Amino acid sequence: MQFDFLKNLSEKSGRLVVGLDVGTTKICAVVGEITPARETDEGFSPGGLNIIGTGAASSRGIKKGVITNIEHTAGAITEAVQEAETAAGVEIKAVHIGITGRHIGCLSSHGVIAVKEKEIGQKEVDNVIDAAKAVAIPFDIEMLHVIPAGFKVNGQNGITDPRGMSGIRLETNVRIITAAATSIQNLVKSCRRAGLDVIDIVFQPLASAEAVLTQDEKDLGVAVIDIGGGTTDIALFYEGNIYHSAVLAIGGGNFTNDIAVGLRTPTLEAERIKKNHGCAMISCIKGDEEIEVGFADGKLFRKIPRRYLIEILQPRAEELFGLLKHEITGKGFHKVMNSGVVLTGGAALMEGMDVMAESILELPVRIGVPAGIEGSEDVKNDPAFATGVGLALHGAEEDMAEQVSDNGSMFPDIRTKVRTWFSDVLKLRN
Ligand SMILES: Nc1ncnc2c1ncn2[C@@H]1O[C@H](COP(=O)(O)OP(=O)(O)OP(=O)(O)O)[C@@H](O)[C@H]1O
Ligand SMILES: [Mg+2]
Repeated sequence: MQFDFLKNLSEKSGRLVVGLDVGTTKICAVVGEITPARETDEGFSPGGLNIIGTGAASSRGIKKGVITNIEHTAGAITEAVQEAETAAGVEIKAVHIGITGRHIGCLSSHGVIAVKEKEIGQKEVDNVIDAAKAVAIPFDIEMLHVIPAGFKVNGQNGITDPRGMSGIRLETNVRIITAAATSIQNLVKSCRRAGLDVIDIVFQPLASAEAVLTQDEKDLGVAVIDIGGGTTDIALFYEGNIYHSAVLAIGGGNFTNDIAVGLRTPTLEAERIKKNHGCAMISCIKGDEEIEVGFADGKLFRKIPRRYLIEILQPRAEELFGLLKHEITGKGFHKVMNSGVVLTGGAALMEGMDVMAESILELPVRIGVPAGIEGSEDVKNDPAFATGVGLALHGAEEDMAEQVSDNGSMFPDIRTKVRTWFSDVLKLRN
């Protein structure tokens, strides 16, 4: 990916981060420039992430979020990355990528240590998290994220950062997100084949959450539901931390297939009909609307009442939100979902999805689009970009945390350590 005529912005201005969302439907690369906090003539500017270019390609070689053909996936990654390079005028060498699929697991664990120094430092925090990580997992499963969900010092809980505190007993609860080692390897191999280094791998709904949720929602309790093409990923947050996660093997592709079978039309035409006329609930549409449906050769059209289309889509939406209700209410998590549910991902764009979600989940629902960024309006209004933007935001956060620790801060972000562990996993696996 050599563009001699392009300048590498990273050397001239702010640092760059690239989020690469390897989805079932599309692969998209989001290039962001980190704008540091600074004093301006107008006052203090907190800094942030400016999206300077994006690129997208239709996915190939990916089923239900999992890579089935490395060569095809690498080709689609190259296409998306080259488009983003041209749009942003930079050369992309390294990316932050997302991972999903039914192989993802989520478990909780507890760690406890005695503090010998009487004052808790980074070493004690590392040790207690190591103690919590000591759980038996199958040899073909890797720990993707180990996220501390608060600490306890001498029995006192609710502590987010114990460093600098006095105490003799330190405890922590961690959420561990696991992934199949082979899926991680195939993802990394596909990126390598496309000439890219992988800086970090993030569970996709965690990245989407970074882009669409507010800190307040995460503190009060919220579920982010990313309805993509192949999978629906759910991540629940409470008191600022991930609480539970799950991946369902239903996505927008199932709605399209149902239309193709139900209306006897090609998949491409079914996709067009879904995007232009789809709706998740019959009660949301007017009774007498008609739509045109293409025949098998794509040239002839016939008119049908729109109601016929919605009669196909509604049961699939009911099935999806029924499964999600089982995942949230069935396990008692609805009691802490005080900020309700945020729907994102491309399939959340279908009319009536929020109304259907609200009626089945019995929680307030909003559609989440990428927020907290500058630049492209298209990206800001499209829930399909939630994961890509979230990955770039995650990269920016890691970069800033690194700057803080490089500058000799006594208390670097606790999450920096989590990322470092993962780098070790990457090294082992490459
Ligand atoms: N306006 C729309 N109405 C209905 N569905 C839509 C609309 N726009 C996009 N979709 C659907 O959204 C899905 C793609 O969403 P998205 O781009 O988030 O998926 P992905 O990230 O590629 O897949 P996954 O996350 O499952 O790996 C497709 O099924 C597409 O048909
Ligand atoms: Mg996705």
